Amino acid sequence: MSKRDFLDLIDIPAADLRAILDDALATKRARADKPKGAVDEGAPLADHMLAMIFEKASTRTRFSFEVGMHQLGGSAIVARAGEMQLGRGETVEDTALVLSRYVDAIMIRANDHADVEALAAAASVPVINGLTDRSHPCQILADLMTLEEHGFDLANSHLAWVGDGNNVCTSFIQAATKFGFKLTIGTPARYAPDEEDVEAAQDLQARVHLYDTAEEAVAGADVVIADTFVSMGDADADERLDLLEDYAVTTDLMELAKPTARFLHCLPAHRGEEVDAEVIDGPQSLVFDEAENRVHAQKAILKWCLNKL
Ligand code: CP
Ligand code: NVA
Repeated sequence: MSKRDFLDLIDIPAADLRAILDDALATKRARADKPKGAVDEGAPLADHMLAMIFEKASTRTRFSFEVGMHQLGGSAIVARAGEMQLGRGETVEDTALVLSRYVDAIMIRANDHADVEALAAAASVPVINGLTDRSHPCQILADLMTLEEHGFDLANSHLAWVGDGNNVCTSFIQAATKFGFKLTIGTPARYAPDEEDVEAAQDLQARVHLYDTAEEAVAGADVVIADTFVSMGDADADERLDLLEDYAVTTDLMELAKPTARFLHCLPAHRGEEVDAEVIDGPQSLVFDEAENRVHAQKAILKWCLNKL
């Protein structure tokens, strides 16, 4: 069997993604009353080591992967790329070959998606994309897990993304091809998601629709999703804040979704910018379940990568 990298949802069979979500939901339930450091029944990744490389800041990804590895019975080593020889010009390929001798899997958060692909191509162990300029697949599995946990049937749900058609949005577009939900996206033309990704998803019969306004995208939605207007690495902050102002998830915008609609945001959030405090801190918001589920979803991703699922 070829090694299992977790780089983009589009490359992973829908049945495998389903198995990851099922395992995440079941394992979360099974350890509900245990302390956070307790190792799961059977220590599925006992004796396994994960290396984590960060070229960008992180709170959730960094902590959730390390806690997750511990709960699976394994261990993790974390390094900022700037502290590694990678930051002094050692190649991605040599880094991959060396780390493959030390650890059983590598998680990387990188500026350039191509570097993650190069790392995966050179490594003999599985590589997990912990966010790049292009995508954030781990996040979306935690998000979908959160929705299922709150009673949503994904194939019959309407998710609305508003704001910047960014890396997180791209992973939602890819997920729509695997889980069958309807995805409406409201962005200014300048910050629309990559046309190729949208067309590729539509070619796979995904129900992905683009709109110019937040109002059109959110109308009748079951779930409204926002993310920061300025992602890590974006150089045009002023222009973004200006153009994206009308795409904020306000209490008025939420009124256009179903009365039962829930709100997701991968965090970190900027209250008063992309979302009103009343929405993100209100009863429709699922953001802290969503953040917690990063641990549970990633444990299942790690098990899948290491052929334990
Ligand atoms: N949502 C997310 O990936 O958060 P961090 O940047 O804190 O890891
Ligand atoms: N789109 C954001 C997500 C942060 C988790 C970024 O890339 O900065």
